[in-house]
Amino acid sequence: MTGHDEHHVDPATEHELELRVERIDAPADDVRRLRLVDPAGAALPSWLPGAHVDLHVGDLVRQYSLCGEVAETSAWSVAVLREAEGRGGSTYVHDKLAEGDLVRVRGPRNHFPLVPAASYLFIAGGIGITPMLPMIAAAEAAGADWRLAYGGRTRASMAFADELVAAYGSRVGLHPQDQEGLLPLADLLPAPEEGTMVYCCGPAPLLNAVTDLCASWPEGLVHMEHFAPKEELHSDDDGSFEVELADAGLTLTVAADQSILETVRAAGVQVLSSCQEGTCGTCETGVLAGTVDHRDSILTPAERNANDVMYVCVSRAAGGCPKLVLEL
Ligand code: FES
Repeated sequence: MTGHDEHHVDPATEHELELRVERIDAPADDVRRLRLVDPAGAALPSWLPGAHVDLHVGDLVRQYSLCGEVAETSAWSVAVLREAEGRGGSTYVHDKLAEGDLVRVRGPRNHFPLVPAASYLFIAGGIGITPMLPMIAAAEAAGADWRLAYGGRTRASMAFADELVAAYGSRVGLHPQDQEGLLPLADLLPAPEEGTMVYCCGPAPLLNAVTDLCASWPEGLVHMEHFAPKEELHSDDDGSFEVELADAGLTLTVAADQSILETVRAAGVQVLSSCQEGTCGTCETGVLAGTVDHRDSILTPAERNANDVMYVCVSRAAGGCPKLVLEL
């Protein structure tokens, strides 16, 4: 989730809800869409395109983009791809979750907001189409010029492809890999265009390829959402350092094999967390002093340099920085 603006969210404004799975359907092979409602029929918190929620699936917590309509306050929709090689969250959704079940949901949170622009290029790979759906609706409603390039393994695996083509016609380019090969990224991204924002979501190889192609582009034009870590989270060179918790009035030592989150929690200080791999943003913490070695997949290079927030589940003190002072 990089390249975003206004992403900082006060955890106090997040909602922890127990929602009922009202309906489950299958918009593509191996994809289940869940429609979630308040059991008592209450309106759900509002959200903006690009937002995601944490879903408690069995013993795990996983992040899924909201893919329904922003204006619909009676339900949230998420679409979940079965990932046989995944870490179990998608298997639970596909094999265990049933209509009528209650699920715990936290959020919504948005690290991938749609910045106003005259035109957009949306690039989606596979289930990465989900955050694009409300973005496309918003771009269309705003009268922006936009195009979607959507790739997937096969046509049958590409959720929402029929609806998109039916609604938007030639703005939508479908690229099933078994017929056409990979998305033609070099053709799609020949050079930065004034006034055109690029939004990309999909598997890591797609995000990496777009990152490489756009490496020399001005910052702020390319926006990506990562649902898996883009950085190495641990290094053999990791050392210990101190954290001073300004609010709690504590100074703690973070051991080489521990995260700040683990250390702080062990001392009895509460910090919200979810993904614990630097992708969801829940553990965002203000930095008052010290230099951070950022290992999250959220902050832009400029936000990293600002050094005023960090994600304590993965990021550490930079080498040579003996102590971080945190707003905790
Ligand atoms: S818990 Fe998700 S970024 Fe730290």
